[in-house]
Amino acid sequence: MKSTEGTRHTEGATNGTTDLTLEDVKQELYNRHHPSLTFLDIEAHAKAIHRIRTLKQKHDVVMLGHNYMEPLVFGLSEKSEQGDSLGLSMYAAKTEAEYLIFNGVPFMAETAKILSPDKTVLVADKTAGCSLADNFGAEDVKAMKELYPGAPVMIYVNSYADAKAESDICCTSANAAHIAKSLPGDTVIFVPDIFFAQNLEEELKGEKRVVYPGKDNTARGAVCEVHERFTLADLVAIRESFEIPKGHSLRKLYAHWECRPDVLKEADFYGSTSQIMKDIAESVAGDGLERAFVASECELTSNLAQEFPAVQFWTACSVRCTHMAKVSLGKIATILEALDQGADLGEFEVTLDAAVIDNARAPIERMLEMSQ
Ligand code: 13P
Ligand code: SF4
Repeated sequence: MKSTEGTRHTEGATNGTTDLTLEDVKQELYNRHHPSLTFLDIEAHAKAIHRIRTLKQKHDVVMLGHNYMEPLVFGLSEKSEQGDSLGLSMYAAKTEAEYLIFNGVPFMAETAKILSPDKTVLVADKTAGCSLADNFGAEDVKAMKELYPGAPVMIYVNSYADAKAESDICCTSANAAHIAKSLPGDTVIFVPDIFFAQNLEEELKGEKRVVYPGKDNTARGAVCEVHERFTLADLVAIRESFEIPKGHSLRKLYAHWECRPDVLKEADFYGSTSQIMKDIAESVAGDGLERAFVASECELTSNLAQEFPAVQFWTACSVRCTHMAKVSLGKIATILEALDQGADLGEFEVTLDAAVIDNARAPIERMLEMSQ
């Protein structure tokens, strides 16, 4: 664990890149006063960042950055291009840009491709997986439908297009409860995340029956290998050692929906990555949040530490998503160099069958309609 206590106000990178020089880039990086960015980090990476930003501007590339990106990668995206799964899907649906680099894992980039099939959607590393998406496919959705005929299937966006294509509606952590409540009937099938399903079941108690893999059946489901690492005992220990008593108005413990149910119950607030950020922003602006721990991927906390320097954060550096971590400055630079040279982009481009795109679009669009 490490503690970060920012002391100065930070605006984040301003990415206007007209005639941007290497010195400008360095200055912006130093001006971030990021608690975990050292002199060495900045000097070692400024040149690559300068080149990426120059090429991004030259080719009018939209660069979407998930909240789990490490700070130097996250800072390549404009503020409007950063966000959680839902926010990035919404952005992908409306962008006019021809090229879209998605700094996240491939299932996220697939969603962008489905919503913007005419665009070229590129990812730094097509081999980056996700323990939820990788362990659940179209056949698993069909098995659940056979077990609960007639019940609508709500699928977490952390899934691949073929599984989405078999489902009725998608959801993210930011809208799951709202969407489930508005579906017809008294039962909803939720796949594939078992902890998420259990958390939703608790949230909808008395309103809607939630069925999911492993609940009174032997169907296959999955959990997030990152969030499952947080236990109730960890949270209790963090409360004690970092002095965040339950119900304290200025100190808060946060958890992501993918955590275990007892972890969620222990948290003072739970939500999607952006909802957690929003609550922190509101708490800072309100009574003035002084201390926080976020039970989620550790780079989310790194980015929060920059955004909210007055808050003291603890982060579990070992709780890193190895899939998200495959997105690096070097790989992003390689994509842009290939684009600049007019080289083949196949190694980076997300492609899907036209039929899969057609069938997966409806559940995603239904989710977006219900999230306006
Ligand atoms: P968000 O939808 O909250 O951004 O989460 C995505 C994810 O992969 C969490 O592990
Ligand atoms: Fe998948 Fe978990 Fe990584 Fe998110 S944090 S991409 S759910 S493995």
